[in-house]
Amino acid sequence: MLQASWIQGRNCFGRFPRNDYGSGLRHRTNLPDRETCAMTIRARVAAAATAALLLATPLAAQTPPAAEPPSPIAVVDAFEAALGPIRTHRPSHGKGICAAGHFTATPEGTRLSVSPVFSGARIPTVIRFGVGGAGPTAPDTARTTRGLAIRFQAPGGVEWDMANISAPIFGAPTPEALVAGLLARAPDPATGRPNPNRVAAFVAANPKSTLQGRWLAATLPPASWATTPYWGVNAFRFRGQDGEVRHARWVFEPLAGTLRLTEEQMRSLPADFLAEELRRRVAAGPVEFDMVLQFPAPGDDLLDPTVAWPDDRPRTRVGRLAVTGVEPGPGGPCDQISFMVLQQEPGITYSDDPTLHARTDAYAVSLSRRLQ
Ligand code: HEM
Repeated sequence: MLQASWIQGRNCFGRFPRNDYGSGLRHRTNLPDRETCAMTIRARVAAAATAALLLATPLAAQTPPAAEPPSPIAVVDAFEAALGPIRTHRPSHGKGICAAGHFTATPEGTRLSVSPVFSGARIPTVIRFGVGGAGPTAPDTARTTRGLAIRFQAPGGVEWDMANISAPIFGAPTPEALVAGLLARAPDPATGRPNPNRVAAFVAANPKSTLQGRWLAATLPPASWATTPYWGVNAFRFRGQDGEVRHARWVFEPLAGTLRLTEEQMRSLPADFLAEELRRRVAAGPVEFDMVLQFPAPGDDLLDPTVAWPDDRPRTRVGRLAVTGVEPGPGGPCDQISFMVLQQEPGITYSDDPTLHARTDAYAVSLSRRLQ
């Protein structure tokens, strides 16, 4: 219920007037004002929290409390406990730039999803490229993930959001582990720094939460936002034209190829070079990515985004994303919205991966704090 209400409430989550975004980077013109949106989102967060409390009370009186996934508010509170207040930027991928482009499904994409995004028509997109880590000053040379968030704007007001990273796996196997990891890293009031014993105890108890960090430590960072694959990481269910429902994960593969920084470039490049580099590329021509679906074999893990599926699983190219414009400076149309990792009934729906279910509402709560 919470999910549906958030999705219906999305006209306050930074909708763009149709046809206002077509080929270039024109700003929105008739969105509700910031204060109205902040009030709407805050009211939904409060209503959701109250409803959850009311629903929980009679059950709690009868049965011992079951392990519940953390609420969206608890998730964002944990980010703030670890990273400080997030009133001006996202708690994850806080640094980023806005871009625009379009997506066109291949015939195979149209066959594999009945979603209007995969109709084969050219679908305008709002795009945000990000740098992982908390703050807006994260260095572009850091061994963190880079992000590619996309809002697809299909005809008839149908929109679909996703947020992808430049690593094939996520940093937590469950929402509980994500929250516990953030809380373990919250600064100790006595020292102002994370307590190393608490961090060590968390790591010992949650080895899967270290897998992404190990992958990043062993992999040089991308040389450009245009030269890395971006993985969706979570499994979704795709309903095809034949009525069959298939589990799949996706990756956006750069047509420019995968190119990483050298150790020397990591030392010598400035903290901010990715944005200008991308602007130069896009000025010379569209920066393109192929969207590829990967299908699991029986026994592959559908629930845990810290486990990649083996490379030999079947893959199909389902569409191409072209980035055609980049904002000239900071801010822009992607700034005041959240890419709320949505399902798109009936074409693309969530798998049972619990980290996927934890995302949409937490992103909305996070946005509401930015809009305060
Ligand atoms: C338990 C699961 C997760 C939770 C609770 C969570 C939470 C969040 C939150 C609160 C934000 C900030 C949103 C905003 O303020 O607009 C965010 C951003 C982001 N997350 Fe997640 N996340 C989860 C899983 C993932 C996974 C699996 C991926 C990898 C595909 C991912 C990739 C991103 C990216 C790329 C952004 C930045 C998006 C942008 O540029 O707007 N997250 N996440």
